[in-house]
Amino acid sequence: ADAVEAGKVAAARRAVDENIKKGQVVGIGSGSTIVFAVQRIAERNKKEELNLVCIPTSFQARQLIHEYGLTLGNLETSPEIDIAIDGADEVDDDINLIKGGGGCLMQEKIIASCSKKFFVIADTRKNSRVLGTTWRKGVPIEVLPMAYKPVQLKINQLLGGNAVLRMASKKAGPVITDNGNFLIDWEFEGVQDWMAVERVLQNVPGVIETGLFLNMTHVAYFGSPDGQVLVRT
Ligand code: A5P
Repeated sequence: ADAVEAGKVAAARRAVDENIKKGQVVGIGSGSTIVFAVQRIAERNKKEELNLVCIPTSFQARQLIHEYGLTLGNLETSPEIDIAIDGADEVDDDINLIKGGGGCLMQEKIIASCSKKFFVIADTRKNSRVLGTTWRKGVPIEVLPMAYKPVQLKINQLLGGNAVLRMASKKAGPVITDNGNFLIDWEFEGVQDWMAVERVLQNVPGVIETGLFLNMTHVAYFGSPDGQVLVRT
């Protein structure tokens, strides 16, 4: 685990140092890797007084922004974001992403879509040619709770595969997102055209957002245990 962590730290550091500049509005992603990016931002902020406004993508991100003494903003006062940084569950050859493994995706996708530049940071395990190779838990999809069952059935009919409701536990029930919704993980096989899949999913009433981030990412940074960083554009 420490080796993987070293990769996350290296990727986060490189992305922050190459891209964060004074006075920017910065989107802060969610997950375990983004923690290292926020730590690096805070470290630089002490020395350089960066005067950033940070827009969170989740409850976790908001807490991180507070914890590290950064300035919290929102889309109402900062509808245009200079850069956003986030993790990913898997990144393919075209820098398309699967996200939402940790339960956050909708606010992340909105923030990414409002950012002039969107950067992904990850350890090298996430670097994949084809989605579904390294992340085997499917595409996370946020759904309105009252519609989860028909949405599951429709996804199975339209796309095949297997749409699974994500459970916190049998006792506790389904995972609830930051937005009060459920998550379905769509397990798939042999997808060629992700744009077509995205269109199908977005057309199912009750689907709120998907964890497919297609053509959104400018640069992906992959850190390896020895601290080397592979940069893909
Ligand atoms: C949050 O639900 C996700 O979209 C994360 O961005 C993704 O799961 C990456 O998380 P890690 O940085 O923990 O791998």
